[in-house]
Amino acid sequence: MDLTIGPNNPAMPKHIGIIMDGNGRWAKKRGLPRSAGHKEGAKTFKKISEYCQKIGIKYLTVYAFSTENWKRPEEEIEGIFALLHIYIWNERARLIRDRAALKFIGDMSRFSPAIMKDINMIERDTGMFDDLHINVAINYGGRQDIVHAAKVLAKKVKDGEITEDDITEESFGRELYTKDTPDPDLIIRPSGELRLSNFLLYQSAYSEFWFSDILWPDFTSDDLDRALIDYMQRNRRFGGI
Ligand code: FPP
Repeated sequence: MDLTIGPNNPAMPKHIGIIMDGNGRWAKKRGLPRSAGHKEGAKTFKKISEYCQKIGIKYLTVYAFSTENWKRPEEEIEGIFALLHIYIWNERARLIRDRAALKFIGDMSRFSPAIMKDINMIERDTGMFDDLHINVAINYGGRQDIVHAAKVLAKKVKDGEITEDDITEESFGRELYTKDTPDPDLIIRPSGELRLSNFLLYQSAYSEFWFSDILWPDFTSDDLDRALIDYMQRNRRFGGI
């Protein structure tokens, strides 16, 4: 079995999803405010996305802000979106140089014009690239993604564009926020929690999962290598034998 980590090994996953969890605990352990954990988490995200590109991963989807995260204190929410703004502007030139596309998935209707300006700019300026596709999930919830797709299809039926029989697993998948992205092969959740927390529910039907106790700010490329080596040794049967 070839367990080489790199673009030439066909056993490598094409799409990795990551639930970037544990920023708050990382900060608490050091007596720092939660915002310091998110700041460090954003650095880890940058490092891991660059590493993913180096080893030939084509799609990376990270969970940055869930539909449930609005319950957090306003200051923390503002801090996360400030980090996003900094990331977009600091990374723009590098993404273009490395031919990596940055896209946002989720319900964008709740964001301010200022946030939408950043998002539209970076999606426009990097959307044509194909070396690595990074999806950042914000105001994202797997259930919300499914309900949104159902509503789009219901409207198409109502408007006579399609019939009920045109609704298939494939056509449904094409209405999800991840429509241009293959299903995730591997979903990683650090920080010791063993749940999906509403991340890519429809898309993860046959994903492999990898959990670890490491808090996201401490997550390194060596940890990703460990996840990849585990993944490549699994026998994916997709319901077959
Ligand atoms: C979960 O950890 C993390 C979040 C809700 C936010 C993740 C955001 C970032 C990594 C920064 C975003 C920036 C960019 C550039 C994408 P938690 O706060 O729930 O941690 P805890 O479970 O230890 O409290």
